[in-house]
Amino acid sequence: MEQRSKWGTNWGFLLAAIGSAVGLGNIWRFPYVAYENGGGAFLIPYFVALLTAGIPILMLEFALGHHKEASAPKAFHYIDPKWEWVGWWAVLFVMFGIELYYIVIIGWCANYMRFSLTLAWGDDPNAFFSQFLGKTDPGNIWGITHLQWHIVTAVAVVWFINWAITYGGVQKGIERAVKIMMPILMVITCTIVVWALFLPGARMGIQHYVTPDFSKITDLRVWVAAYGQIFFSLSLGFGIMIAYSSYLARDTNIFKNSLIVGFANSFYEVFAGFGVFSILGYMATRQGKEISDVVAESLGLAFVVYPEAISLLPYGRIFGVLFFFLLAIAGISSSISIIEAFTAAIHDKFAFPRKKVVTTICVIGFFGSLAFTTNVGLFWLDIVDHFLNQYGLIVVGILEALIVGWLYRTSLLKAHIVANLGLSGTHHKFFKYVVLQLWMYCIRFVTPVALGIAIVNSLMQEFVEPYAGYPISGVLILGVGWVLVTHVVAFGVSGLPWKGKTT
Ligand code: PHE
Repeated sequence: MEQRSKWGTNWGFLLAAIGSAVGLGNIWRFPYVAYENGGGAFLIPYFVALLTAGIPILMLEFALGHHKEASAPKAFHYIDPKWEWVGWWAVLFVMFGIELYYIVIIGWCANYMRFSLTLAWGDDPNAFFSQFLGKTDPGNIWGITHLQWHIVTAVAVVWFINWAITYGGVQKGIERAVKIMMPILMVITCTIVVWALFLPGARMGIQHYVTPDFSKITDLRVWVAAYGQIFFSLSLGFGIMIAYSSYLARDTNIFKNSLIVGFANSFYEVFAGFGVFSILGYMATRQGKEISDVVAESLGLAFVVYPEAISLLPYGRIFGVLFFFLLAIAGISSSISIIEAFTAAIHDKFAFPRKKVVTTICVIGFFGSLAFTTNVGLFWLDIVDHFLNQYGLIVVGILEALIVGWLYRTSLLKAHIVANLGLSGTHHKFFKYVVLQLWMYCIRFVTPVALGIAIVNSLMQEFVEPYAGYPISGVLILGVGWVLVTHVVAFGVSGLPWKGKTT
């Protein structure tokens, strides 16, 4: 049996975990969610969510993976073999749901880097984006006519890069790659934000981003948005942080690591928001429009609004290349973590050699990604993304909190965390009896309740109208179907015998 991998240094681990957390969501999702939900005032529910669910669940995943030296399914198997399927479900739907289209989006970024050089979208980026995707009528989501070959090529390249990094292993592959990628990511982010801050209109854009609207704080939906954002943004509930922390040295300070990763990710997204809104302010000023007319979220922001801004900017082409390169790196440092979480699970259970597992996953993954590169790819992507994030992810989060909080001897995890704190005397006592008690309280009560409310809220909206007005067959097969199939497979796999060590 192969030796279990190890990080070379705690630093390498931190960069990899931050790399997983900082992704497309930080750059294009957070600023919009904040703006929509009360601007500066959103920071209050947001930080409450970070402290009461984000960091506690992150610490739970870190502690579990580290204590058991196990991937998600194995860690849950140790808690109780009955619950092993939860670990499988997490890694399965992140690998065969999120990863497949996440990589396609990175492929689009690669294409858009090239388009930036010639401002290929002309004066109608919206029409250009539809044409680029070969997009057809959203009412006919089963009408596949062809693959978009320029996207397929880019997707092949992105899968190849992911394979090349993860094939090298934890230390020689992932750690080495993030040590190069994360500093580049920081430098480009700072360049873009500073560049944007000095544009005319930036101040007005930022005012829209941060001006607090306290009346929103009493709206339940704002709190739901805060918990949802924190969960997705920290890559929680996917088994990723469990796998990553299982490769840490035995004497690692888990508490400190959780605080560093949790705050670094939030710092990054709040900071990136200044850049995004400065650009929006600049665009609104140049076009004589209101911010509310130019603002957009996710795909619309990156592939329609930004191209428009890039065309207006002095040296816009350079800005465009930098921006799409930034998205691509942020994306890759997240996508490798998904491959690793799945690889670790398969390797732990079946004891197959790592390298073979990685290669097989990447080949299957590439073919799976093709589902999102057809003329109806965007619709599929949209539906799968909605269901996995609104339901799959949140359900796993709730299960994780309940199983560990209520069914496991949490004293073991607490003792594990305390052992490596290097504290003594009153500090030690304070930590053990106050901080860790609060932690357990969050895991047992706050997280399940907050996420439970979030899911009920999403479900209620689903009944009001089928998601985004797509045909109901699409929503059921691609959305609900995807969640159910991964669930059934998870049950099946958890019933197979263990070949890897479980004692
Ligand atoms: N945390 C990532 C982001 O903010 C998203 C992600 C999802 C990463 C799933 C890994 C796995 O974009």
